[in-house]
Formats: sequence, structure tokens, C-alpha cells
Amino acid sequence: MLAWYEQAGISTFVGETPRDRFAETEAEASRRRSPAPESKPAQAPAPATHPAVTARPAPIAPDADASSAADARDQAGRAQTLGELREMLAAFMGCGLRQTAKNLVFGNGAEDADVMFVGEAPGRDEDLAGEPFVGKSGQLLNRMLATIGIERDAVRVTNTVPWRPPGNRAPTPAETEACLPFTLRHIELVRPRVVVSVGSSSVRALLRTDEGITRLRGRWLSLTTPGGLQLPVLPILHPAFLLRQPTQKRLAWRDLQTLREKLAEPTLADQNNM
Ligand code: URA
Repeated sequence: MLAWYEQAGISTFVGETPRDRFAETEAEASRRRSPAPESKPAQAPAPATHPAVTARPAPIAPDADASSAADARDQAGRAQTLGELREMLAAFMGCGLRQTAKNLVFGNGAEDADVMFVGEAPGRDEDLAGEPFVGKSGQLLNRMLATIGIERDAVRVTNTVPWRPPGNRAPTPAETEACLPFTLRHIELVRPRVVVSVGSSSVRALLRTDEGITRLRGRWLSLTTPGGLQLPVLPILHPAFLLRQPTQKRLAWRDLQTLREKLAEPTLADQNNM
């Protein structure tokens, strides 16, 4: 059993009972991050359902994802270039996903792109290559872009988390929170005209909404970054979903037309040069 866990990438002992972080409310998460002194006396034993860590010290604290979100915000805001941001992320110990991933998947494409795609999380192919959207989903994304005359190299592509979650599970809210400041800074440094949010976890993270992707897709929404940049965001269906449900490609087609129309609008600079 232990060998099986190890192969699955589980190498750190956290507790004796499973804990459903997806079910954890924001209030519980914030109590866990900063417990009130009186609610956690120094000598009190840890509650049975949330056992304290007693195994050998892990290189990353089990609660690092949650407690490091503030750290991440601090650090990411200081990056002045994409190179600096990448280095910071490579050294960032606040997200446990890095322990099981093979590579950091920072992002690729034009550094001054007009369009920036933000996906969910790297999959197996991306983890091996260290590049976003290179597997089957990525190939479909490239074909989607080609239908509106955009080359993949002309856009910027990244994800809400830069490490592959084990077994391609969805990132937990705490993992997403810990990494999000880097993604938002990535957007600020590229300063695209528009952001395309790919798939439901990307939309949920970027726009802090619980609304489903099927309701949000194809509508222009607004993102304000921590640095005050305001950008239009277009949620679209994830190519992985379209590969499973090819009949939904007609919706993706419509959304791509919406993107094309937006990009055809004159920019402020165009208007000033008229
Ligand atoms: N799916 C994503 O959301 N991102 C990738 O990089 C690859 C697949």
C-alpha cells in the first residue's frame, strides 16, 4: 500500500484521517490559517478530525498552500519582469503541488500578447514538457485559434496553478489561492488587451465566482488585478471538455467569433493615430 501511495506521488504524512479540503468553508480555512490564541491553547491536543503533524518534518508544511497565499501576494507583486516572476515561482515553497510535479509550467507565448489564455492546471504532457497546453487539449486550442486566424505563438498562455495536480485532479481552493497571485501578476506584466479564461476552475479562480462555465461562457466579464489593471475576460469551454463533447464545439465556435470581434475593435492607440 505504501509503495502504491509513493508511486501516486504521496510522500508526506499529514494526518491519520482524511480531510476534505474541497468541503472546507472560507471561514474554516481562515481559522486554520490564523487560529485565535484562545481557541488553541499551547498545551491543548489537536482535534481528532484535524490531527497535528507528528511525522518527520516535511519540506513544505501541510498547510503551506493556505498560509502562503499572503506570502505569494507579497512576492508576486514585486516581480518587474516575467523572468523575475518565473524565478520567484520556481523558488516558491507555498504550494504542495510542486512536490509531486516533475516541472514548473510557467507559461509561454508572446510576452506582449494582445490575448492571454489562462487554463486550469497542467496535465501529464505539460508536466513532462514544462510548457502549458501541449497535449491533446493544447492541440485543439491551437486549431481553435487557427479558425480565427491567430497563431499560437502570438498569444500568451498560462494556468491558474503552475504545477500538475497528482492524477490530474482539480487543484484545491487552497492550492489555487496560493498560486493565484503569481497568475494575476503574470497577467499584469503581459498587459494583454483581453484575457480568455479557459474552463470552469480558471473562471472560478480569476473572477471569484461560483457560477458555472456553461452560464458564463461567451460573455465579456471584467477582471481587476491587485495592481488595479482592468481587463475584459472571456470565459470559454475547456478544449478537454470539447474533446469529450464534440457537439459543444458549436458553442466554442461562437465564443471564438466573440473574441475575434473584440480584437477587431480599434484600440485607443489606433484611434489616436487616425
Ligand atoms: N489543461 C489546462 O487547463 N492547462 C494545460 O496547460 C493543459 C491542459
